Amino acid sequence: MATVHPLPVCEPVAEERPVLVLDLGGQYSQLIARRVREARVYSELVPHRLSAAEVRARNPLALILSGGPASVYAEGAPTIDREIFGLGIPTLGICYGMQLMAMDLGGSVDRTGVSEFGRTALEATPGGLFEGLAAEQTVWMSHRDSVVAPPVGARVVAGSPSTPIAAFEDSERRLYGVQFHPEVRHTPHGQDVLENFLYKLAGVPPAWTAAAVIEEQVERIRGQIGTERVICGLSGGVDSAVAALLVYKAVGDQLTCVFVDHGLLRENEAGQVVDTFAGHFHVPLVHVAAQDRFLTRLEGVSDPEEKRKIVGEEFIRVFEEEARKLSDEREEEVRFLVQGTLYSDVIESGGSDEGVAATIKSHHNVGGLPADMRMELVEPLRQLFKDEVRRVGEELGLPERMVWRQPFPGPGLAIRIIGEVTRERLEILRAADAILQEEVRRAGLYRELWQSFAVLPAIKSVGVQGDERTYAYPIVIRAVTSEDAMTADWARLPYDLLEQVSSRIINEILGVNRVALDISSKPPSTIEWE
Ligand code: XMP
Repeated sequence: MATVHPLPVCEPVAEERPVLVLDLGGQYSQLIARRVREARVYSELVPHRLSAAEVRARNPLALILSGGPASVYAEGAPTIDREIFGLGIPTLGICYGMQLMAMDLGGSVDRTGVSEFGRTALEATPGGLFEGLAAEQTVWMSHRDSVVAPPVGARVVAGSPSTPIAAFEDSERRLYGVQFHPEVRHTPHGQDVLENFLYKLAGVPPAWTAAAVIEEQVERIRGQIGTERVICGLSGGVDSAVAALLVYKAVGDQLTCVFVDHGLLRENEAGQVVDTFAGHFHVPLVHVAAQDRFLTRLEGVSDPEEKRKIVGEEFIRVFEEEARKLSDEREEEVRFLVQGTLYSDVIESGGSDEGVAATIKSHHNVGGLPADMRMELVEPLRQLFKDEVRRVGEELGLPERMVWRQPFPGPGLAIRIIGEVTRERLEILRAADAILQEEVRRAGLYRELWQSFAVLPAIKSVGVQGDERTYAYPIVIRAVTSEDAMTADWARLPYDLLEQVSSRIINEILGVNRVALDISSKPPSTIEWE
């Protein structure tokens, strides 16, 4: 059977020497890599089992050992190859990482009977990690064990009332440790501590910028694709848009974008994709108006998973047909397929072996990869987090509306219409959603919300409009705040905004006589209704 060949992970180029975060199983490991990158330093999360030789081969500018839930003396607790400390690479240990350094480098760790969880007052020695900061700091702690003797040669530079050794420094060997979590927002000056470590102590410059990413990816894409043809599926979302623009910048008209309009998009969305890509950027674009195909296949279907499956399958079928047509027209096989895979997807699908989720939900691949196409993947966003993708998108000139678009599920409005998807229901939902988006933007809240959308339940209720009794659909407003969609809270939208949205929806949309607000968090609810 034909298979897709994922790209081998490339060797880093010189400008891209990473700061490696060794994942010791802590819940904030990925966040550390993120914060380092917010400091404009390229960083990757790697398994703690890397040998010293493997670490050296990556030629990192600095190392950070993450936190972790274990006790360093517990059986099976994660360790790192001790020879790593002898490589001369500036290293910062955080929480468990700090304790591991103490244990491995001649200090000691103990369960002192005093645990610290939450906000803690810290007394810090100015300079070094705390350069430019006040001696009194608030930090976020979460530990049972404590370092009771620092590594040989290290001096203690911070303490809290119950943890006298809350930070140490060995400036000669450039080894540093902090018991608190500088990566979480509850440590107000945590980012300053990380930046002090990176810029001042490890001498790593803030050179990881959107412009640098673009330059480097363009080179890489050219090297991979050469003079071959490449195809990219656009979804309307920011990831595929940025991936496509990067590839277009690298190989120009060798790229053809395919935009499958499944008829389940929001108002004006299809038009925006076509205007932006074909109109503004002049990217060769095939716009497949496949609304009828999708809606016909969805007729009579009300099971959510069934709807997802149908949209996913049909999408792949349409995409394959277009790829084949392209190859036939040009009598030249399309050899490459662009995918907007992000760093978080790589990690979630097993890029790192511990302390990270095992697999991505399969439904999140909808609109993605035809499973049996004979094409090599081009994945220019593989090293980026979502916020970095947005920065790159801005730098490439993608319109603000696309760069900051809230996430939208592959099956689109089909999973926001409870029960059967019909043209009439699609029209009602689309109109309600457009009003909500318009008002949320007008209130200046669009970017603050992870997602805000309308849902159409499969029920009707009684109302009165004019002197007439009505029997019509309600619309449910769903708006959530979230960092990563794993958890979410319902957004406290201002009453004035809710009132405006409700009255506009009921007055402007025939077939709706009631608006309700979803006030559920995730878990136990999910963000989408289906
Ligand atoms: P839930 O509803 O599981 O959603 O809390 C979490 C995030 O994933 C999006 N989502 C999907 N994305 N195909 C997608 O591409 C899907 O089938 C799908 N279902 C949910 C959802 O919008 C939210 O951002």
